[in-house]
Amino acid sequence: MTIHIEVLKDLDLLYAKGLAIIEAKLEQGATTFGLATGGTMLPLYEKIRASSIDFSSCVSFNLDEYVGLPATHSESYRTFMRMNLFDAKPFAKSELPDGLAADVEAEAIAYEEKLQNAHLNFQLLGIGENGHIGFNEPGTPFDSTTHVVELTQSTRQANARFFNSIDEVPTHAITMGISSILRADTILLIAVGEKKRRPLEALLKGDQTTEVPVTALQDHKNIIILTDLDI
Ligand code: F6R
Repeated sequence: MTIHIEVLKDLDLLYAKGLAIIEAKLEQGATTFGLATGGTMLPLYEKIRASSIDFSSCVSFNLDEYVGLPATHSESYRTFMRMNLFDAKPFAKSELPDGLAADVEAEAIAYEEKLQNAHLNFQLLGIGENGHIGFNEPGTPFDSTTHVVELTQSTRQANARFFNSIDEVPTHAITMGISSILRADTILLIAVGEKKRRPLEALLKGDQTTEVPVTALQDHKNIIILTDLDI
């Protein structure tokens, strides 16, 4: 396990560091970027929007998308990415799983194929309170590829803050699998706030277990963690 961890209590500095890491990757020739949504990424995308970064010759792949939300829905991940990043910083091509595909299982297989052909130079990751990465919930095998998942009640509860009520939170999503994520050359994991302490501790100090999906990262060769938590 080669983990480079930086504890930055000042969130402005933490996200500035995140931006600097992405800029450095671009300078080193990275062209394929795996992206994430979620509250953790908002300040990072704000910094990217205000920067001079140019992704116009790069390709992006998002980790996941809800099943059943129209692309134009305010909480679809496609809308999230457009509003927070792509409108200001377009990529040559931006891929997200199509949560409205007639056959979502086939869509997951097709997405995995695109991903394998592209090969990610970089993957941005947050973590769920239950240790999920992407929407790989506890119990997901580490050799999983892109697939359709049923979201746990705790994840739907955590995401209900973005909807009018928990009933509106989709029950399923398409997510890159754990092995899809592990193939990326470099992974930048951002964990901010006390709610992320347990999964982060499990990654850094715990035994590897599918019950805490983020512990799969212990097998990766090049992980950078930015956190405000003293661990
Ligand atoms: C987002 C994603 C999720 C989030 C995680 C943390 O595309 O795949 O794994 O990174 O749920 O979400 P926030 O940042 O809202 O705490």
